[in-house]
Amino acid sequence: MKNTPDAWAKRAKSEGYRSRASYKLLEIDKKHNLISKSSLIFELGSSPGGWSQVISNNKKSDCECIAIDILDMKEVEGIDFYKLDLYSDKFNEKIEDYSNSVDLILSDMSVNLSGIKVVDEEGNKDLNLFCLELSKKLLKPNGTLLIKSFTNSNLLYLKKEFKKLFNSVHIEKPLASKTSSPEVYLLGLVLK
Ligand SMILES: C[S@@+](CC[C@H](N)C(=O)[O-])C[C@H]1O[C@@H](n2cnc3c(N)ncnc32)[C@H](O)[C@@H]1O
Repeated sequence: MKNTPDAWAKRAKSEGYRSRASYKLLEIDKKHNLISKSSLIFELGSSPGGWSQVISNNKKSDCECIAIDILDMKEVEGIDFYKLDLYSDKFNEKIEDYSNSVDLILSDMSVNLSGIKVVDEEGNKDLNLFCLELSKKLLKPNGTLLIKSFTNSNLLYLKKEFKKLFNSVHIEKPLASKTSSPEVYLLGLVLK
């Protein structure tokens, strides 16, 4: 298959995925086997549902998956979706019962681009740090965090913060991620 945005979009359409983002998670999951061994998954920034579909297709039948987005999302079988802003009190209420019980946190979140580079980079850094803090609260010992991040001056700092929390840290650039995009995925395995 040609590695162009169009080719990935065509493939997603023909295979019934809502977005080509699905292939990014499929590739990372194939390499690290994250989904099938989890019993409780939090998915942050899930709309329109491409990653939720991958989770739904690959999770154990009794695995609970809670997906969150500030935007609406059409139902995906086996996924409990909540329309919430991560920075809201309602989200804090939602996570109250899940302390130290989550196997896997996945985040494909990014801010709506303002076009002002420094503003967008800081917004994305805040989302990344939010996920790291959430990991401390929600993940089980040995739990896993996968987040979308970007190759810029913040990445080295984020990687250092990941290394404080996780035994093994990887930077992934899946084939379906545009080569022209600074997007990468930071993966922390085995929470210390
Ligand atoms: C790239 S999209 C996710 C695509 C998704 N992984 C898929 O495969 O369909 C990023 C999502 O993050 C969400 N997002 C960004 N900031 C958020 C916040 N503060 N709270 C909840 N969702 C947020 C956006 O609404 C957007 O839907």
